[in-house]
Amino acid sequence: MNILSPSLLSIDFNNIEKNAKILDAAGVKWYHLDVMDGAFVPNISFGQPVIKSIRKITKAFFDVHLMINEPKRYIDSFKDAGADLLTVHYEACENIDETIELIKKAGMKVGLSVNPETEIEVVKPYLDKVDMILVMSVHPGFGGQKFIPSALDKLEWVKRESQNINPDILIEVDGGINFENVSDVLSAGANVIVAGSACFNGDISENVGRFNKLLGE
Ligand code: DX5
Ligand code: ZN
Repeated sequence: MNILSPSLLSIDFNNIEKNAKILDAAGVKWYHLDVMDGAFVPNISFGQPVIKSIRKITKAFFDVHLMINEPKRYIDSFKDAGADLLTVHYEACENIDETIELIKKAGMKVGLSVNPETEIEVVKPYLDKVDMILVMSVHPGFGGQKFIPSALDKLEWVKRESQNINPDILIEVDGGINFENVSDVLSAGANVIVAGSACFNGDISENVGRFNKLLGE
Protein backbone atom coordinates (compact mmCIF):
# COMPACT_ATOMS: atom_id res chain seq x y z
CA MET A 1 0.00 0.00 0.00
CA ASN A 2 1.37 3.39 -1.01
CA ILE A 3 0.41 6.59 0.77
CA LEU A 4 0.18 10.14 -0.58
CA SER A 5 1.05 12.77 2.03
CA PRO A 6 0.38 16.23 0.57
CA SER A 7 2.65 18.89 2.09
CA LEU A 8 0.49 21.72 3.41
CA LEU A 9 3.40 24.12 3.03
CA SER A 10 1.94 24.82 -0.43
CA ILE A 11 -1.71 25.08 0.60
CA ASP A 12 -3.56 28.40 0.40
CA PHE A 13 -3.83 29.15 4.13
CA ASN A 14 -6.51 31.71 3.41
CA ASN A 15 -8.78 28.86 2.35
CA ILE A 16 -7.45 26.10 4.53
CA GLU A 17 -10.79 24.62 5.54
CA LYS A 18 -12.14 24.55 1.99
CA ASN A 19 -8.92 23.00 0.69
CA ALA A 20 -8.75 20.42 3.48
CA LYS A 21 -12.26 19.31 2.52
CA ILE A 22 -11.12 18.94 -1.09
CA LEU A 23 -8.17 16.80 0.05
CA ASP A 24 -10.35 14.58 2.22
CA ALA A 25 -12.98 14.17 -0.49
CA ALA A 26 -10.23 13.18 -2.95
CA GLY A 27 -9.25 10.33 -0.64
CA VAL A 28 -6.22 11.85 1.11
CA LYS A 29 -5.46 9.95 4.34
CA TRP A 30 -2.23 11.70 5.44
CA TYR A 31 -1.33 15.40 5.81
CA HIS A 32 2.37 16.27 5.76
CA LEU A 33 2.99 19.23 8.08
CA ASP A 34 6.36 20.96 7.74
CA VAL A 35 7.59 22.69 10.88
CA MET A 36 10.64 24.94 10.38
CA ASP A 37 12.48 26.91 13.05
CA GLY A 38 14.66 29.31 11.05
CA ALA A 39 17.74 27.70 12.64
CA PHE A 40 17.97 24.10 11.46
CA VAL A 41 16.69 25.34 8.10
CA PRO A 42 16.84 28.86 6.67
CA ASN A 43 13.09 29.35 6.77
CA ILE A 44 10.22 29.60 9.27
CA SER A 45 6.85 27.96 8.67
CA PHE A 46 4.29 27.19 11.38
CA GLY A 47 4.07 25.40 14.69
CA GLN A 48 1.74 23.79 17.18
CA PRO A 49 -1.11 26.39 17.18
CA VAL A 50 -1.58 26.09 13.43
CA ILE A 51 -1.47 22.27 13.58
CA LYS A 52 -4.00 22.34 16.40
CA SER A 53 -6.41 24.44 14.35
CA ILE A 54 -6.05 22.16 11.29
CA ARG A 55 -6.69 19.18 13.62
CA LYS A 56 -10.23 20.51 14.11
CA ILE A 57 -11.14 20.32 10.43
CA THR A 58 -9.95 16.84 9.41
CA LYS A 59 -9.54 13.30 10.69
CA ALA A 60 -6.46 12.71 8.48
CA PHE A 61 -3.28 11.18 9.91
CA PHE A 62 -0.89 14.01 10.81
CA ASP A 63 2.60 13.28 9.50
CA VAL A 64 4.59 16.07 11.16
CA HIS A 65 8.05 16.78 9.72
CA LEU A 66 10.13 18.61 12.30
CA MET A 67 12.91 20.65 10.70
CA ILE A 68 13.95 22.05 14.07
CA ASN A 69 16.95 21.75 16.36
CA GLU A 70 16.60 19.48 19.41
CA PRO A 71 12.99 18.49 18.74
CA LYS A 72 12.82 16.58 22.04
CA ARG A 73 11.97 19.90 23.71
CA TYR A 74 8.59 20.01 21.98
CA ILE A 75 7.37 16.41 21.78
CA ASP A 76 4.45 16.69 24.21
CA SER A 77 3.22 19.95 22.71
CA PHE A 78 3.08 18.40 19.23
CA LYS A 79 1.16 15.46 20.67
CA ASP A 80 -1.28 17.92 22.24
CA ALA A 81 -1.60 19.70 18.89
CA GLY A 82 -2.75 16.46 17.27
CA ALA A 83 0.36 14.94 15.67
CA ASP A 84 0.17 11.22 14.91
CA LEU A 85 3.74 10.80 13.71
CA LEU A 86 6.79 12.94 14.43
CA THR A 87 9.74 12.80 12.08
CA VAL A 88 12.98 14.23 13.41
CA HIS A 89 16.22 14.90 11.58
CA TYR A 90 19.32 12.85 12.27
CA GLU A 91 21.33 16.07 11.96
CA ALA A 92 19.19 17.97 14.51
CA CYS A 93 19.26 15.63 17.53
CA GLU A 94 22.02 15.30 20.08
CA ASN A 95 20.70 11.94 21.27
CA ILE A 96 18.69 10.03 18.66
CA ASP A 97 17.86 7.03 20.88
CA GLU A 98 16.46 9.25 23.61
CA THR A 99 14.44 11.33 21.13
CA ILE A 100 12.93 8.19 19.55
CA GLU A 101 12.00 6.82 22.98
CA LEU A 102 10.38 10.08 24.08
CA ILE A 103 8.22 10.22 20.93
CA LYS A 104 7.10 6.61 21.43
CA LYS A 105 6.40 7.24 25.10
CA ALA A 106 4.23 10.20 24.14
CA GLY A 107 2.09 7.80 22.08
CA MET A 108 3.12 8.77 18.56
CA LYS A 109 4.77 6.99 15.69
CA VAL A 110 8.31 8.06 14.94
CA GLY A 111 10.25 8.83 11.79
CA LEU A 112 13.92 9.58 11.21
CA SER A 113 15.10 11.77 8.35
CA VAL A 114 18.37 12.54 6.62
CA ASN A 115 19.34 15.57 4.57
CA PRO A 116 20.66 15.14 1.02
CA GLU A 117 24.29 15.60 2.12
CA THR A 118 24.04 13.01 4.92
CA GLU A 119 25.01 9.41 4.17
CA ILE A 120 22.02 7.12 4.51
CA GLU A 121 24.05 4.49 6.39
CA VAL A 122 23.78 6.62 9.56
CA VAL A 123 20.19 5.42 10.05
CA LYS A 124 21.19 1.74 10.18
CA PRO A 125 21.20 1.45 14.01
CA TYR A 126 17.67 2.84 14.12
CA LEU A 127 15.96 0.78 11.40
CA ASP A 128 14.37 -1.54 13.96
CA LYS A 129 13.44 1.31 16.31
CA VAL A 130 11.47 3.65 14.06
CA ASP A 131 8.23 3.40 12.08
CA MET A 132 9.49 5.43 9.14
CA ILE A 133 12.64 6.63 7.41
CA LEU A 134 12.28 9.92 5.51
CA VAL A 135 14.71 10.44 2.65
CA MET A 136 14.96 14.12 1.75
CA SER A 137 15.18 14.64 -2.00
CA VAL A 138 15.73 18.42 -1.69
CA HIS A 139 17.60 20.55 0.82
CA PRO A 140 14.93 21.10 3.46
CA GLY A 141 13.46 24.55 3.97
CA PHE A 142 11.41 25.37 0.90
CA GLY A 143 8.72 23.91 -1.32
CA GLY A 144 8.96 23.86 -5.10
CA GLN A 145 12.60 22.76 -5.46
CA LYS A 146 14.09 20.31 -7.93
CA PHE A 147 14.36 16.60 -7.06
CA ILE A 148 17.91 15.42 -6.22
CA PRO A 149 18.37 12.05 -8.00
CA SER A 150 20.82 10.57 -5.45
CA ALA A 151 17.74 10.09 -3.21
CA LEU A 152 16.89 7.06 -5.39
CA ASP A 153 19.99 5.14 -4.21
CA LYS A 154 19.14 6.02 -0.62
CA LEU A 155 15.59 4.70 -0.99
CA GLU A 156 16.93 1.46 -2.47
CA TRP A 157 19.37 1.15 0.43
CA VAL A 158 16.61 1.59 3.04
CA LYS A 159 14.38 -0.93 1.27
CA ARG A 160 17.20 -3.50 1.11
CA GLU A 161 18.57 -3.00 4.62
CA SER A 162 15.17 -2.98 6.33
CA GLN A 163 13.88 -6.12 4.61
CA ASN A 164 14.93 -8.50 7.40
CA ILE A 165 15.14 -6.07 10.31
CA ASN A 166 11.83 -4.19 9.94
CA PRO A 167 9.93 -5.25 6.80
CA ASP A 168 6.90 -3.08 7.64
CA ILE A 169 8.93 0.12 7.86
CA LEU A 170 7.49 3.10 6.01
CA ILE A 171 9.86 4.69 3.51
CA GLU A 172 8.96 8.31 2.82
CA VAL A 173 10.44 10.62 0.20
CA ASP A 174 10.06 14.39 0.35
CA GLY A 175 10.98 17.13 -2.08
CA GLY A 176 10.51 17.79 -5.77
CA ILE A 177 8.12 14.88 -6.37
CA ASN A 178 5.93 15.31 -9.43
CA PHE A 179 3.90 13.21 -11.88
CA GLU A 180 7.01 12.52 -13.95
CA ASN A 181 9.32 11.17 -11.24
CA VAL A 182 6.88 9.54 -8.80
CA SER A 183 7.16 6.15 -10.53
CA ASP A 184 10.95 6.24 -10.09
CA VAL A 185 10.74 6.80 -6.32
CA LEU A 186 8.10 4.07 -5.99
CA SER A 187 10.31 1.61 -7.89
CA ALA A 188 13.25 2.58 -5.68
CA GLY A 189 11.25 1.56 -2.59
CA ALA A 190 9.36 4.61 -1.35
CA ASN A 191 5.85 3.89 -0.05
CA VAL A 192 4.96 7.29 1.43
CA ILE A 193 5.08 10.09 -1.12
CA VAL A 194 5.18 13.74 -0.03
CA ALA A 195 4.14 16.27 -2.64
CA GLY A 196 3.58 19.96 -2.02
CA SER A 197 3.61 22.11 -5.13
CA ALA A 198 2.53 19.21 -7.35
CA CYS A 199 -0.62 18.77 -5.23
CA PHE A 200 -1.58 22.39 -4.72
CA ASN A 201 -0.61 24.10 -8.00
CA GLY A 202 -3.74 23.96 -10.11
CA ASP A 203 -6.73 21.73 -9.42
CA ILE A 204 -6.10 19.98 -6.08
CA SER A 205 -8.67 17.26 -6.58
CA GLU A 206 -7.39 16.46 -10.07
CA ASN A 207 -3.76 16.42 -8.86
CA VAL A 208 -4.53 14.08 -5.96
CA GLY A 209 -6.49 11.80 -8.28
CA ARG A 210 -3.57 11.69 -10.69
CA PHE A 211 -1.13 10.85 -7.90
CA ASN A 212 -3.41 8.19 -6.45
CA LYS A 213 -3.61 6.50 -9.84
CA LEU A 214 0.19 6.49 -10.13
CA LEU A 215 0.45 5.20 -6.56
CA GLY A 216 -1.91 2.36 -7.40
CA GLU A 217 -4.51 3.52 -4.88
C1 DX5 B 1 10.79 20.96 2.24
C2 DX5 B 1 9.61 20.30 2.87
C3 DX5 B 1 8.73 19.63 1.90
C4 DX5 B 1 8.13 20.55 0.87
C5 DX5 B 1 7.90 19.74 -0.37
O1 DX5 B 1 11.67 21.33 3.20
O2 DX5 B 1 10.04 19.30 3.80
O3 DX5 B 1 7.74 18.85 2.54
O4 DX5 B 1 6.95 21.15 1.27
O5 DX5 B 1 7.45 20.57 -1.37
P1 DX5 B 1 7.56 20.18 -2.90
O6 DX5 B 1 6.77 18.91 -3.10
O7 DX5 B 1 6.98 21.35 -3.60
O8 DX5 B 1 9.02 19.97 -3.21
ZN1 ZN C 1 8.55 17.87 4.56
